[in-house]
This record gives sequence, C-alpha cells and structure tokens, in this order.
Amino acid sequence: MELFKKKKTAGEPERTGLPRHIAIIMDGNGRWAKKRGLPRTAGHAAGAENFRKIARYCRDVGIEYLTVYAFSTENWSRPDDEVNAILGILENYLEEAMERMRKENIRVKFFGNPARLSPKIQELIKKADEISRDITGCQVNVCFNYGARDEMVRAMQTYAEEVKAGRANDITEADVNRYLYSADIPDPDLIIRPGGECRLSNFLLWQCAYAEFYFCDTYWPDFDEAELDKALEAFSGRQRRFGKVK
Ligand code: FPP
Repeated sequence: MELFKKKKTAGEPERTGLPRHIAIIMDGNGRWAKKRGLPRTAGHAAGAENFRKIARYCRDVGIEYLTVYAFSTENWSRPDDEVNAILGILENYLEEAMERMRKENIRVKFFGNPARLSPKIQELIKKADEISRDITGCQVNVCFNYGARDEMVRAMQTYAEEVKAGRANDITEADVNRYLYSADIPDPDLIIRPGGECRLSNFLLWQCAYAEFYFCDTYWPDFDEAELDKALEAFSGRQRRFGKVK
C-alpha cells in the first residue's frame, strides 16, 4: 500500500486516506463458474476462498471493518442445492473461525436474521461473537439472511416495543442507528461491487448515506489484492464533503 505512504506534493488536492470501513457485495460467483464450465456452487466455494484472502489483506493494510454481503433475504428463492451449498460454506467458515479468529487477529460478527438458520449455525454465531470480544484486529461482518429493508423493519419493531414499554418517546437518527446490526461501528466509507452490476441490491441502505461507491467488472473470485488496491486508490482520490462546502 505504497499509495498511502506518498508525500503530498504542492498543489495536489487533499487525498482521502484509507477507509476505516469497507463493504463488499461479493457478486459474480455464478458467472465465474459458468465461464469455466463448473457448477455455480464451485463459484461460491471460490468466492468464499477469496473472501478469506481479502479479509486477511484488509487486516494487514489497516482496515478496521470489512462487511461482506454473503446471502440476502431474497436469495432463499435460488435452487435448493445452491442455497444448501452456501449454508454449508457459512457453517464451515464459522467452524474454522473458532480456531482461526485469535490466530489471525480477525473478529467475526454476523449481520442478519439468524432465525431461519440451523441451530448449529446459530450456536456458532453466538460463539464467534463471544470469542470476538477480546480480539483487537479487523472486524469482519458477514451479512447472511440480510436485507437492508428487513434490518430497518426489525429496528422499528424493537423501537416500537421500547415506546410501548415507556422507555422511549422520541425518535432520532441516533435511535434508528442503535437498533441496526451495525449499531457499534462507523458507517462504511467505501462500498465495492465487483461483477459488473451497478446497484445496491438491498445492502446497507441506511448506512450508505455518505459512502463512496466503486464498481468494476471483475468477478468476485478474481477480485484479488491488486483489485482492492485499485479500489483504495480510487477512494483516495475522492473528495468527501458530507453535504458541506470544502
Ligand atoms: C452473488 O453472486 C453471490 C452470492 C449470492 C453468494 C456469495 C457467497 C459467497 C462468496 C460464499 C459465502 C461466504 C461466506 C463466508 C458465508 P451470484 O451467484 O449472484 O453470481 P452471478 O451474478 O454471476 O450469478
């Protein structure tokens, strides 16, 4: 990451530094597999491998939070074998995380509604959360059975219960934030979508208010460290004004 060590030369506009929080829509696994004559599930396995690699790279360059979109509330309507393969990948990843989180200095958190997942996966999510408490490295948030609209509806339901119980009577932006999965962490600075589509697909709709976006055609399994460097370089050239005049 030489870019962030470079001295600013006279007249060069202020560079935006390294993002604290990157969010990625891991798209293109199916097309990556099809191009190779493989089943879509092989694309997801390759995508999961790439996710591990990119999470370690984020930790190494000093990204504090990485949020990945692994399975949406709408993805249940995919063929059963594909859904089961992705559930299997999640279970393996969480099992492996029990051992690796401390060694790799990576915290693993789950963002989504766990209710539809197996009791075993739900237990692993809880354990990962407990282990994460005394780890200081990059926090990886895995969005699974996640939908931004579902997240907001759940937040509003919880808030309505607070109001009914007499514990709240006003509602502010900070209150809404408090009931989202991302309550404890800053909003994403950079949202990346590989795979050629330019849309958000129900991902972090509240949190993306001032995020910078980066889209590219590379399929997720091929989105390697060099591709992430390109995204970071593009980000560093953006001027963020947050609605103000610079
Ligand atoms: C979108 O690509 C990808 C998904 C819906 C699944 C992403 C899942 C993984 C990367 C593995 C899961 C990882 C963990 C840790 C649980 P697509 O299938 O829509 O690709 P396509 O647009 O080319 O068909």
